[in-house]
Amino acid sequence: MARYAQIVGWGMYVPSEILTNDDLSSMVDTSDDWIRARTGIVERRIAAPKETTATMAIRAAQAALRVANVNPARLDLIIVATATPDYPFPATACLVQDALGATRAGAFDLSAGCTGFVYGLAVGSQMIISGAYDQVLVIGAETLSRIVNWTDRNTCVLFGDGAGAVLLQASAVPGGVLSTVLGSDGSGGDLLMLPAGGSRHPASAETVAQGLHYIQMNGREIFRFATRVMAKAARQALAEANVDLEDISLFISHQANGRIIQSAAKSLKLPPEKVFVNLDRYGNTSSASVPIALCEAIEQGRVKRDDHLVIVGFGAGLTWAAVVVKWGMPLPVPQPPRWTVVWRLARYRLAAVRSYLRRLGRRILSALTGLFVRNNGSG
Ligand code: ACO
Repeated sequence: MARYAQIVGWGMYVPSEILTNDDLSSMVDTSDDWIRARTGIVERRIAAPKETTATMAIRAAQAALRVANVNPARLDLIIVATATPDYPFPATACLVQDALGATRAGAFDLSAGCTGFVYGLAVGSQMIISGAYDQVLVIGAETLSRIVNWTDRNTCVLFGDGAGAVLLQASAVPGGVLSTVLGSDGSGGDLLMLPAGGSRHPASAETVAQGLHYIQMNGREIFRFATRVMAKAARQALAEANVDLEDISLFISHQANGRIIQSAAKSLKLPPEKVFVNLDRYGNTSSASVPIALCEAIEQGRVKRDDHLVIVGFGAGLTWAAVVVKWGMPLPVPQPPRWTVVWRLARYRLAAVRSYLRRLGRRILSALTGLFVRNNGSG
């Protein structure tokens, strides 16, 4: 029997602190007018000191699981697309797995710049269609405020923090993710990069002094690249899905710059009502931008059953990707009974207790082993 990968859950989380263009104009030599005119951004969210990519990813994941009414213990795989993981390792996806209590899930991070979430959709859906897995959680989460140089007006006005997630589920109902197109061009890797902190330039007092732990970007070249690949990738994905341009209900793309989105829409001859834009309120949240946009499009009633969505991303690498989705879920989703909400919260508490007991168990075992070795050595 044919298998399809349907999006059955979705959720987002953004920090509560808002940084407006006016706030930025008191930090660097810029203005609300310039930022609005050149990017379309009005404000962005900034993570609180205690918030990290993992904590935001967990909140978005919990929301997606709530919509799907799926127990985290049933997840097969968790993919976290991010350019700002909590640590180089362990993977942020493992921190999410632990917090959710997804005891039988594999977990890994995916690095494809701002395209990461769309890459994750492609990987997750193929895992389902191939028959390997039934439930795959794909998350895009970023804390870009921690790698932005707040004295560089060329970059600091662009980025924001947040997370979004979708749950992909195996289904016999035709639809879901119909086609996926992935692309890359490493010759443009230097156009958008975080130079230090990896094996090429390990962290040192010198790399910090030179500001190499901040985003470095050639904005004009990225702009040119983005306008070139977006429409092309969308067309390729539509051709593979055998869907006509006129049958697209909504175009959801990476939210980096309003002018880039307009240029892609113009090239695809899409009217404004078929193009989703929310970068005015969140700025560029990198791999989180597409799932956040999808969640808000659903919330605003702009997605309906059997709609064809085209989802396109581009970013560091250089990378780009497009997927065509035939929406399979009836909307709006009915509210679950109150007791399930309480049970879900209890389950996350239990996951935290389980995690604590596992750490404690490991510590006790290691102390006992040490004692045994010392006693045997001295005896
Ligand atoms: N405020 C005021 N002036 C500014 C600012 C600012 N915040 N930033 C730059 N300027 C100045 C520049 O210094 C330049 O001045 P100059 O002519 O005296 O040298 C002038 O504005 C024009 O600069 P441009 O770079 O030509 O401006 P442009 O119209 O290209 O807009 C922008 C710049 C917004 C960065 C645009 O190039 C862009 O959006 N590029 C794509 C960036 C992007 O999407 N990055 C993310 C990719 S995805 C990922 O993986 C993270």
